[in-house]
Formats: sequence, structure tokens, C-alpha cells
Amino acid sequence: MLSIAVFGSGAGSNFRAILTAIQQGDIPAARISLVLSNNSGAGILGIARANALPAIHLSRKQFPDERSFADTILSTLGDHGVNFIALAGYMKQVPPVVVGAYRGRIVNIHPALLPRFGGAGMYGMRVHEAVLAAGDTTSGATVHYVDEEYDHGPVVLQQTVPVLPGDTPELLAARVLAAEHELYPAAIRRIALNERTPGHHRN
Ligand code: GRF
Repeated sequence: MLSIAVFGSGAGSNFRAILTAIQQGDIPAARISLVLSNNSGAGILGIARANALPAIHLSRKQFPDERSFADTILSTLGDHGVNFIALAGYMKQVPPVVVGAYRGRIVNIHPALLPRFGGAGMYGMRVHEAVLAAGDTTSGATVHYVDEEYDHGPVVLQQTVPVLPGDTPELLAARVLAAEHELYPAAIRRIALNERTPGHHRN
């Protein structure tokens, strides 16, 4: 059973897509055990609460140092029996201690076709502006395993979208976001099914 913690900072539309897929039985052997946000007003926490799921605000600002912040994340994850982490619009770096504890068990979604247009500072509209500036005719989204570098770990699954003439960053962002809502549930479904395969590999 994948016991998933979702980390997010914003609207939570990717989280909602994953939750809906689980509720509809599209992702077997998986459940959302915790939703965590650095932003107490984030929509993602509202969606969790509306679905009677643990919704926890944890921010580095509440702690005297990185280590106590990381330890609190780890103990919170442990208290909820979490064995898998999905970052969904989480705008903070996951403490390396947490990445280490969940190596091979933590994924992220990025609104571009990694390795292109990834890395520090490549988030939100900046990604789509860069795709348009580069003149790419295809973009899309990537679900990848998380390691200590931004947008760097092995790719789980990608989905492409066309870049259309006259596209603005906003139009492209909306097209990519719609693809994300298909891609993330499909990626987690693949991982969940992998778990059930005897002698499954880590990634
Ligand atoms: C998405 O664009 C995703 O690619 C990026 O952050 C955004 C999350 O949006 N990582 P939401 O909070 O899931 O609606």
C-alpha cells in the first residue's frame, strides 16, 4: 500500500487530481495519509480538510534551525505512516535529510519536459516563458524522482502538449496544467502497480 503524503504550496489542483483518481479506483493500493503545506492559506489544505484528510501547516519559519524543521517533518510523516511523498506545487526545497530518508520514494511534477527548462529558478510562468522564448513547438510535464538537486532525478513519466502559434505563457501554462492532471495520477498508478509486482524494483 502506498501511504502518500502530498506536499504543496498553492491551489492543489494536482493533489485534487490524484485524490479523485484514488477515490474513483483508478489508482489501486494507494491512499493519501497526509497533506502538508508551508502556506497556511493554501488551497491544497482546504481540499484536504474538505475530504477529512490530515492537513498540516509546517514552515521553516516556525523553527529555530533547519535540523529541527527537518526532524519535525520526519516525525510527522512517521506519525501518519507515510511511505511515499508526492510534491505537487511545493515551492520550497525539501530538506536533504527528508530526501535521504525517502530516497526512491519521493516524486515531483514539473511543468516542462525535463531535462529541458528545469533547475533552480525554473518554476511557474518562468518555465513557459522560457519554452516560448526558445521557440520550442512541444512542451509538457514531467513526473520525476526527487534527489538533492532541483528537477534532477530519474523520470517516471512524461506527457507532451503542442506549443501553438500565438501562445502566451498563460495559454501554454493552462494546456500543460491540464496535462499534469492526467499525468500525475497515471505516474502514481504506475508506481502503485509496480509495488504489487513481486520483487518489484525501487524505480
Ligand atoms: C503546477 O504547475 C506544477 O507543475 C508546479 O506547481 C503547480 C502546482 O499547481 N509544480 P497546483 O497547486 O497543483 O494547482
